[in-house]
Amino acid sequence: MTISRRKVLTIIGGGTIAAAGAASGLFAATRTPSKALAPWASAGLEDEPRRRALSYAILAPNPHNRQPWLVDLGAADTVTLYRDKARDLPETDPYARQLTIGLGCFIELMTIAASQTGHEIDYDFFPEGEDGPVAVARFREGAKADPLFAHILDRRSSKEPFTAQEVPANMVAELEPLADIRTRPDDVAKIRDLTWLAWQTESFTPRTMKESVDLMRFGKAEINANPDGIDLGGPFLEALMLAGVLSREAQNDPNSTGFKEGVRIYKEMLNATPAYAVITTEGNTRLNQIEAGRRWLRLNLTTTALGLSLHPVSQALQEFEEMAPHYEKAHAMLAEPGHTVQMLGRLGFGPKVGRSPRWPLETRIVNG
Ligand SMILES: Cc1cc2nc3c(=O)[nH]c(=O)nc-3n(C[C@H](O)[C@H](O)[C@H](O)COP(=O)(O)O)c2cc1C
Repeated sequence: MTISRRKVLTIIGGGTIAAAGAASGLFAATRTPSKALAPWASAGLEDEPRRRALSYAILAPNPHNRQPWLVDLGAADTVTLYRDKARDLPETDPYARQLTIGLGCFIELMTIAASQTGHEIDYDFFPEGEDGPVAVARFREGAKADPLFAHILDRRSSKEPFTAQEVPANMVAELEPLADIRTRPDDVAKIRDLTWLAWQTESFTPRTMKESVDLMRFGKAEINANPDGIDLGGPFLEALMLAGVLSREAQNDPNSTGFKEGVRIYKEMLNATPAYAVITTEGNTRLNQIEAGRRWLRLNLTTTALGLSLHPVSQALQEFEEMAPHYEKAHAMLAEPGHTVQMLGRLGFGPKVGRSPRWPLETRIVNG
Protein backbone atom coordinates (compact mmCIF):
# COMPACT_ATOMS: atom_id res chain seq x y z
CA MET A 1 0.00 0.00 0.00
CA THR A 2 1.37 3.39 -0.92
CA ILE A 3 -0.03 6.52 0.59
CA SER A 4 0.96 9.78 -1.00
CA ARG A 5 2.48 12.75 0.76
CA ARG A 6 -0.67 14.80 0.20
CA LYS A 7 -2.80 12.27 2.04
CA VAL A 8 -0.32 11.87 4.81
CA LEU A 9 -0.21 15.58 5.50
CA THR A 10 -3.96 15.46 6.03
CA ILE A 11 -3.68 12.52 8.40
CA ILE A 12 -1.17 13.91 10.76
CA GLY A 13 -3.27 16.73 12.20
CA GLY A 14 -1.83 17.44 15.64
CA GLY A 15 1.35 15.58 14.80
CA THR A 16 2.10 17.73 11.77
CA ILE A 17 5.17 19.57 12.97
CA ALA A 18 6.92 16.61 14.54
CA ALA A 19 6.08 14.38 11.61
CA ALA A 20 7.06 16.88 8.94
CA GLY A 21 10.35 17.50 10.69
CA ALA A 22 11.12 13.84 11.05
CA ALA A 23 10.18 13.20 7.43
CA SER A 24 12.72 15.57 6.02
CA GLY A 25 16.42 15.38 5.32
CA LEU A 26 18.59 12.54 6.53
CA PHE A 27 15.76 10.53 8.05
CA ALA A 28 13.84 10.53 4.74
CA ALA A 29 16.92 9.53 2.80
CA THR A 30 17.25 6.32 4.81
CA ARG A 31 13.67 5.05 4.71
CA THR A 32 13.60 2.99 1.49
CA PRO A 33 13.23 -0.71 2.37
CA SER A 34 15.88 -1.63 -0.21
CA LYS A 35 16.20 -5.25 0.87
CA ALA A 36 12.46 -5.84 0.38
CA LEU A 37 12.57 -4.26 -3.09
CA ALA A 38 15.74 -6.05 -4.23
CA PRO A 39 13.90 -8.80 -6.21
CA TRP A 40 12.77 -6.14 -8.73
CA ALA A 41 16.39 -5.21 -9.40
CA SER A 42 17.48 -8.87 -9.63
CA ALA A 43 14.80 -9.83 -12.17
CA GLY A 44 16.43 -11.28 -15.28
CA LEU A 45 19.89 -11.67 -13.74
CA GLU A 46 19.66 -15.48 -13.57
CA ASP A 47 21.19 -17.51 -16.44
CA GLU A 48 19.22 -20.75 -16.18
CA PRO A 49 15.98 -20.28 -18.20
CA ARG A 50 13.55 -21.49 -15.50
CA ARG A 51 15.17 -19.39 -12.79
CA ARG A 52 15.26 -16.40 -15.12
CA ALA A 53 11.51 -16.70 -15.87
CA LEU A 54 10.78 -17.21 -12.17
CA SER A 55 12.74 -14.11 -11.21
CA TYR A 56 10.02 -12.16 -13.08
CA ALA A 57 7.09 -14.38 -12.05
CA ILE A 58 7.60 -13.53 -8.35
CA LEU A 59 6.72 -9.92 -9.23
CA ALA A 60 3.13 -10.98 -9.99
CA PRO A 61 0.17 -9.20 -8.39
CA ASN A 62 -1.49 -11.30 -5.71
CA PRO A 63 -4.00 -10.75 -2.90
CA HIS A 64 -2.62 -8.94 0.16
CA ASN A 65 0.81 -9.50 -1.37
CA ARG A 66 0.87 -12.96 0.27
CA GLN A 67 3.03 -14.38 -2.57
CA PRO A 68 1.45 -17.82 -2.16
CA TRP A 69 3.84 -19.60 -4.53
CA LEU A 70 6.42 -22.33 -3.93
CA VAL A 71 8.35 -24.00 -6.73
CA ASP A 72 10.17 -27.32 -7.05
CA LEU A 73 12.95 -27.38 -9.67
CA GLY A 74 13.96 -31.01 -9.05
CA ALA A 75 12.88 -32.35 -12.47
CA ALA A 76 14.85 -31.27 -15.57
CA ASP A 77 13.41 -28.32 -17.53
CA THR A 78 10.37 -28.37 -15.23
CA VAL A 79 8.84 -26.02 -12.68
CA THR A 80 6.38 -27.69 -10.35
CA LEU A 81 4.29 -24.95 -8.79
CA TYR A 82 2.54 -25.32 -5.43
CA ARG A 83 0.25 -23.05 -3.47
CA ASP A 84 1.88 -22.32 -0.11
CA LYS A 85 -1.07 -23.00 2.19
CA ALA A 86 0.72 -21.36 5.10
CA ARG A 87 -0.08 -18.12 3.25
CA ASP A 88 -3.86 -18.61 3.07
CA LEU A 89 -6.35 -15.85 3.92
CA PRO A 90 -9.07 -17.80 5.74
CA GLU A 91 -11.29 -14.80 6.59
CA THR A 92 -11.36 -12.80 3.35
CA ASP A 93 -10.61 -15.62 0.90
CA PRO A 94 -12.02 -18.76 2.55
CA TYR A 95 -12.01 -20.83 -0.67
CA ALA A 96 -8.59 -19.56 -1.82
CA ARG A 97 -10.24 -18.24 -4.98
CA GLN A 98 -8.28 -14.99 -4.95
CA LEU A 99 -5.02 -16.73 -4.05
CA THR A 100 -5.55 -19.04 -7.04
CA ILE A 101 -6.08 -15.99 -9.26
CA GLY A 102 -2.74 -14.68 -7.95
CA LEU A 103 -1.15 -17.98 -8.99
CA GLY A 104 -2.69 -17.48 -12.45
CA CYS A 105 -0.96 -14.07 -12.58
CA PHE A 106 2.31 -15.78 -11.61
CA ILE A 107 1.86 -18.42 -14.35
CA GLU A 108 1.19 -15.83 -17.05
CA LEU A 109 4.17 -13.75 -15.98
CA MET A 110 6.41 -16.85 -16.03
CA THR A 111 5.07 -17.66 -19.52
CA ILE A 112 5.75 -14.16 -20.86
CA ALA A 113 9.22 -14.03 -19.31
CA ALA A 114 10.11 -17.49 -20.68
CA SER A 115 9.06 -16.41 -24.17
CA GLN A 116 11.69 -13.71 -24.04
CA THR A 117 14.43 -16.38 -24.04
CA GLY A 118 12.55 -18.37 -26.72
CA HIS A 119 10.99 -20.87 -24.31
CA GLU A 120 7.49 -22.22 -24.69
CA ILE A 121 5.89 -23.76 -21.58
CA ASP A 122 3.59 -26.80 -21.68
CA TYR A 123 1.31 -26.84 -18.64
CA ASP A 124 -0.37 -29.66 -16.84
CA PHE A 125 -2.75 -27.99 -14.36
CA PHE A 126 -3.73 -29.68 -11.09
CA PRO A 127 -2.44 -33.08 -12.30
CA GLU A 128 -3.18 -34.66 -8.90
CA GLY A 129 -6.36 -32.69 -8.20
CA GLU A 130 -6.93 -29.92 -5.70
CA ASP A 131 -4.37 -31.09 -3.11
CA GLY A 132 -1.37 -31.61 -5.40
CA PRO A 133 0.62 -29.10 -7.43
CA VAL A 134 -1.16 -26.18 -9.09
CA ALA A 135 0.78 -26.81 -12.29
CA VAL A 136 3.61 -28.80 -13.75
CA ALA A 137 5.32 -26.48 -16.26
CA ARG A 138 7.69 -27.99 -18.83
CA PHE A 139 10.03 -25.63 -20.66
CA ARG A 140 10.97 -26.31 -24.29
CA GLU A 141 12.44 -24.27 -27.13
CA GLY A 142 10.14 -22.58 -29.58
CA ALA A 143 8.32 -19.47 -28.32
CA LYS A 144 8.16 -16.08 -29.98
CA ALA A 145 8.92 -13.19 -27.60
CA ASP A 146 5.76 -11.65 -26.11
CA PRO A 147 5.86 -7.82 -26.41
CA LEU A 148 4.14 -7.42 -23.02
CA PHE A 149 7.48 -8.45 -21.48
CA ALA A 150 8.61 -4.82 -21.85
CA HIS A 151 6.13 -3.67 -19.17
CA ILE A 152 6.76 -6.18 -16.38
CA LEU A 153 8.95 -3.94 -14.26
CA ASP A 154 6.59 -0.96 -14.55
CA ARG A 155 3.38 -2.81 -13.68
CA ARG A 156 1.66 -1.81 -10.44
CA SER A 157 -1.60 -2.18 -8.54
CA SER A 158 -2.29 1.53 -8.21
CA LYS A 159 -3.84 2.27 -4.80
CA GLU A 160 -4.28 5.99 -5.45
CA PRO A 161 -7.05 8.40 -6.50
CA PHE A 162 -7.34 8.71 -10.28
CA THR A 163 -8.04 11.91 -12.22
CA ALA A 164 -11.48 12.58 -13.71
CA GLN A 165 -10.09 12.08 -17.21
CA GLU A 166 -12.15 9.52 -19.12
CA VAL A 167 -10.53 6.42 -20.55
CA PRO A 168 -10.42 7.12 -24.32
CA ALA A 169 -12.41 4.86 -26.64
CA ASN A 170 -9.32 3.57 -28.45
CA MET A 171 -7.86 2.37 -25.14
CA VAL A 172 -11.17 0.77 -24.12
CA ALA A 173 -11.14 -1.08 -27.46
CA GLU A 174 -7.64 -2.37 -26.76
CA LEU A 175 -8.60 -3.64 -23.30
CA GLU A 176 -11.99 -5.16 -24.17
CA PRO A 177 -10.65 -8.51 -25.43
CA LEU A 178 -9.25 -9.05 -21.92
CA ALA A 179 -12.00 -7.59 -19.71
CA ASP A 180 -15.39 -5.94 -19.68
CA ILE A 181 -14.65 -2.20 -19.43
CA ARG A 182 -17.37 -0.09 -17.78
CA THR A 183 -17.27 3.62 -18.58
CA ARG A 184 -20.92 4.75 -18.64
CA PRO A 185 -21.35 7.32 -15.84
CA ASP A 186 -24.48 5.70 -14.37
CA ASP A 187 -22.81 2.29 -14.41
CA VAL A 188 -19.61 3.68 -12.89
CA ALA A 189 -21.55 5.47 -10.12
CA LYS A 190 -23.32 2.25 -9.11
CA ILE A 191 -20.11 0.22 -9.04
CA ARG A 192 -18.40 2.95 -7.01
CA ASP A 193 -21.17 2.86 -4.39
CA LEU A 194 -20.87 -0.91 -4.23
CA THR A 195 -17.10 -0.90 -3.75
CA TRP A 196 -17.41 1.65 -0.95
CA LEU A 197 -20.14 -0.26 0.91
CA ALA A 198 -18.22 -3.51 0.50
CA TRP A 199 -14.97 -1.93 1.68
CA GLN A 200 -16.74 -0.70 4.83
CA THR A 201 -18.15 -4.18 5.43
CA GLU A 202 -14.67 -5.69 5.33
CA SER A 203 -13.21 -2.90 7.48
CA PHE A 204 -15.91 -2.92 10.17
CA THR A 205 -16.12 -6.71 10.50
CA PRO A 206 -13.53 -7.27 13.24
CA ARG A 207 -12.21 -10.66 12.11
CA THR A 208 -11.72 -9.63 8.45
CA MET A 209 -10.16 -6.32 9.43
CA LYS A 210 -7.85 -8.11 11.87
CA GLU A 211 -6.69 -10.40 9.07
CA SER A 212 -5.49 -7.31 7.18
CA VAL A 213 -4.03 -5.54 10.21
CA ASP A 214 -2.06 -8.67 11.14
CA LEU A 215 -0.50 -8.48 7.67
CA MET A 216 0.45 -4.80 7.93
CA ARG A 217 4.19 -4.13 8.03
CA PHE A 218 4.89 -0.88 9.85
CA GLY A 219 8.05 0.83 8.62
CA LYS A 220 11.28 -0.17 6.95
CA ALA A 221 12.53 -2.70 9.53
CA GLU A 222 9.25 -4.68 9.52
CA ILE A 223 8.99 -4.51 5.69
CA ASN A 224 12.55 -5.75 5.20
CA ALA A 225 12.02 -8.54 7.76
CA ASN A 226 8.72 -9.66 6.13
CA PRO A 227 8.58 -8.36 2.55
CA ASP A 228 4.92 -9.21 1.97
CA GLY A 229 1.46 -8.20 3.22
CA ILE A 230 0.39 -4.57 3.40
CA ASP A 231 3.53 -2.44 3.51
CA LEU A 232 3.23 0.90 5.27
CA GLY A 233 6.54 2.54 4.56
CA GLY A 234 8.33 5.63 3.31
CA PRO A 235 9.40 8.74 5.21
CA PHE A 236 5.95 10.23 5.75
CA LEU A 237 4.25 7.11 7.06
CA GLU A 238 7.23 6.38 9.25
CA ALA A 239 7.04 9.93 10.57
CA LEU A 240 3.40 9.28 11.44
CA MET A 241 4.48 6.16 13.29
CA LEU A 242 6.96 8.24 15.26
CA ALA A 243 4.20 10.77 15.95
CA GLY A 244 2.06 7.91 17.33
CA VAL A 245 -0.79 8.38 14.84
CA LEU A 246 -0.18 5.28 12.76
CA SER A 247 0.13 2.05 14.73
CA ARG A 248 -1.16 -1.51 14.80
CA GLU A 249 -3.32 -0.63 17.83
CA ALA A 250 -4.89 2.35 16.02
CA GLN A 251 -5.61 0.26 12.93
CA ASN A 252 -7.49 -2.28 15.09
CA ASP A 253 -9.57 0.45 16.76
CA PRO A 254 -12.36 1.96 14.61
CA ASN A 255 -12.61 4.88 17.05
CA SER A 256 -8.98 5.96 16.72
CA THR A 257 -7.96 9.02 14.67
CA GLY A 258 -5.65 6.88 12.56
CA PHE A 259 -8.42 4.43 11.65
CA LYS A 260 -10.95 7.20 10.86
CA GLU A 261 -8.45 8.96 8.63
CA GLY A 262 -7.78 5.68 6.85
CA VAL A 263 -11.51 5.36 6.14
CA ARG A 264 -11.67 8.91 4.81
CA ILE A 265 -8.65 8.33 2.56
CA TYR A 266 -10.09 5.11 1.19
CA LYS A 267 -13.43 6.75 0.43
CA GLU A 268 -11.70 9.57 -1.42
CA MET A 269 -9.64 7.06 -3.41
CA LEU A 270 -12.57 4.80 -4.31
CA ASN A 271 -14.59 7.84 -5.41
CA ALA A 272 -11.83 9.04 -7.73
CA THR A 273 -12.54 6.37 -10.33
CA PRO A 274 -13.69 7.08 -13.90
CA ALA A 275 -13.97 3.45 -15.14
CA TYR A 276 -13.84 -0.20 -14.08
CA ALA A 277 -12.48 -3.42 -15.55
CA VAL A 278 -14.34 -6.66 -14.86
CA ILE A 279 -13.26 -10.25 -15.47
CA THR A 280 -15.91 -12.95 -15.27
CA THR A 281 -15.87 -16.67 -15.98
CA GLU A 282 -18.71 -18.99 -16.90
CA GLY A 283 -17.76 -21.55 -14.26
CA ASN A 284 -15.80 -21.18 -11.05
CA THR A 285 -13.37 -24.09 -11.15
CA ARG A 286 -9.72 -23.83 -10.16
CA LEU A 287 -8.88 -23.71 -13.88
CA ASN A 288 -11.32 -20.83 -14.39
CA GLN A 289 -9.61 -18.98 -11.55
CA ILE A 290 -6.15 -19.59 -13.04
CA GLU A 291 -7.43 -18.39 -16.40
CA ALA A 292 -8.90 -15.23 -14.81
CA GLY A 293 -5.51 -14.50 -13.19
CA ARG A 294 -3.72 -14.93 -16.51
CA ARG A 295 -6.13 -12.48 -18.13
CA TRP A 296 -5.78 -10.00 -15.27
CA LEU A 297 -2.01 -10.04 -15.61
CA ARG A 298 -2.21 -9.36 -19.35
CA LEU A 299 -4.73 -6.62 -18.67
CA ASN A 300 -2.43 -5.04 -16.06
CA LEU A 301 0.55 -5.12 -18.45
CA THR A 302 -1.58 -3.67 -21.24
CA THR A 303 -2.84 -0.83 -19.02
CA THR A 304 0.79 -0.17 -18.10
CA ALA A 305 1.70 0.02 -21.78
CA LEU A 306 -1.14 2.51 -22.36
CA GLY A 307 -0.20 4.73 -19.40
CA LEU A 308 -3.36 3.74 -17.49
CA SER A 309 -3.56 2.76 -13.83
CA LEU A 310 -5.37 -0.34 -12.59
CA HIS A 311 -6.32 -1.25 -9.01
CA PRO A 312 -8.16 -4.40 -7.90
CA VAL A 313 -11.05 -3.72 -5.51
CA SER A 314 -12.07 -7.20 -4.41
CA GLN A 315 -14.14 -6.66 -1.28
CA ALA A 316 -17.55 -7.14 -2.96
CA LEU A 317 -16.31 -10.42 -4.46
CA GLN A 318 -15.30 -11.96 -1.14
CA GLU A 319 -17.06 -15.04 0.11
CA PHE A 320 -17.75 -14.43 3.80
CA GLU A 321 -21.17 -14.20 5.38
CA GLU A 322 -21.39 -10.46 6.04
CA MET A 323 -20.36 -9.72 2.44
CA ALA A 324 -23.14 -11.85 0.90
CA PRO A 325 -25.52 -8.95 -0.01
CA HIS A 326 -22.73 -7.06 -1.79
CA TYR A 327 -21.52 -10.24 -3.49
CA GLU A 328 -25.01 -10.82 -4.87
CA LYS A 329 -25.31 -7.24 -6.03
CA ALA A 330 -21.90 -7.38 -7.72
CA HIS A 331 -22.94 -10.49 -9.60
CA ALA A 332 -26.31 -9.05 -10.62
CA MET A 333 -24.55 -5.92 -11.90
CA LEU A 334 -21.42 -7.35 -13.48
CA ALA A 335 -21.98 -10.93 -14.64
CA GLU A 336 -24.40 -12.98 -16.68
CA PRO A 337 -26.67 -15.15 -14.53
CA GLY A 338 -24.70 -18.06 -13.07
CA HIS A 339 -21.29 -16.67 -14.06
CA THR A 340 -18.65 -15.62 -11.49
CA VAL A 341 -17.03 -12.21 -11.19
CA GLN A 342 -13.38 -13.09 -10.60
CA MET A 343 -11.81 -9.61 -10.71
CA LEU A 344 -13.09 -6.05 -10.40
CA GLY A 345 -10.64 -3.19 -10.77
CA ARG A 346 -10.59 0.59 -10.80
CA LEU A 347 -9.28 1.95 -14.08
CA GLY A 348 -8.12 5.46 -14.98
CA PHE A 349 -5.18 7.81 -14.99
CA GLY A 350 -3.28 7.94 -11.70
CA PRO A 351 0.06 9.06 -10.29
CA LYS A 352 3.26 7.06 -10.62
CA VAL A 353 3.55 4.65 -7.69
CA GLY A 354 6.43 2.68 -6.21
CA ARG A 355 7.23 -1.02 -6.27
CA SER A 356 5.88 -3.35 -3.61
CA PRO A 357 8.04 -5.75 -1.57
CA ARG A 358 8.81 -9.32 -2.58
CA TRP A 359 10.46 -12.33 -0.96
CA PRO A 360 13.63 -13.25 -2.92
CA LEU A 361 13.29 -16.12 -5.40
CA GLU A 362 15.57 -18.39 -3.33
CA THR A 363 13.07 -18.37 -0.46
CA ARG A 364 10.31 -19.63 -2.77
CA ILE A 365 12.24 -22.66 -4.07
CA VAL A 366 11.59 -25.85 -2.10
CA ASN A 367 13.85 -28.11 -4.14
CA GLY A 368 16.34 -26.56 -6.44
C1 LIG B 1 -6.83 -11.65 -6.77
C2 LIG B 1 -6.31 -10.32 -6.31
C3 LIG B 1 -7.09 -9.52 -5.48
C4 LIG B 1 -6.62 -8.28 -5.05
N1 LIG B 1 -7.45 -7.48 -4.29
C5 LIG B 1 -7.03 -6.25 -3.90
C6 LIG B 1 -7.90 -5.39 -3.17
O1 LIG B 1 -9.04 -5.70 -2.88
N2 LIG B 1 -7.42 -4.17 -2.81
C7 LIG B 1 -6.15 -3.77 -3.12
O2 LIG B 1 -5.77 -2.66 -2.75
N3 LIG B 1 -5.32 -4.56 -3.84
C8 LIG B 1 -5.74 -5.79 -4.23
N4 LIG B 1 -4.90 -6.59 -4.99
C9 LIG B 1 -3.57 -6.09 -5.37
C10 LIG B 1 -2.49 -6.56 -4.41
O3 LIG B 1 -2.59 -5.91 -3.19
C11 LIG B 1 -1.12 -6.33 -5.07
O4 LIG B 1 -1.03 -7.12 -6.23
C12 LIG B 1 0.05 -6.65 -4.16
O5 LIG B 1 0.04 -5.83 -3.03
C13 LIG B 1 1.38 -6.47 -4.88
O6 LIG B 1 1.48 -5.17 -5.40
P1 LIG B 1 1.72 -4.89 -6.96
O7 LIG B 1 0.60 -5.52 -7.72
O8 LIG B 1 1.72 -3.39 -7.10
O9 LIG B 1 3.05 -5.49 -7.31
C14 LIG B 1 -5.35 -7.84 -5.44
C15 LIG B 1 -4.57 -8.63 -6.30
C16 LIG B 1 -5.05 -9.86 -6.74
C17 LIG B 1 -4.22 -10.69 -7.68
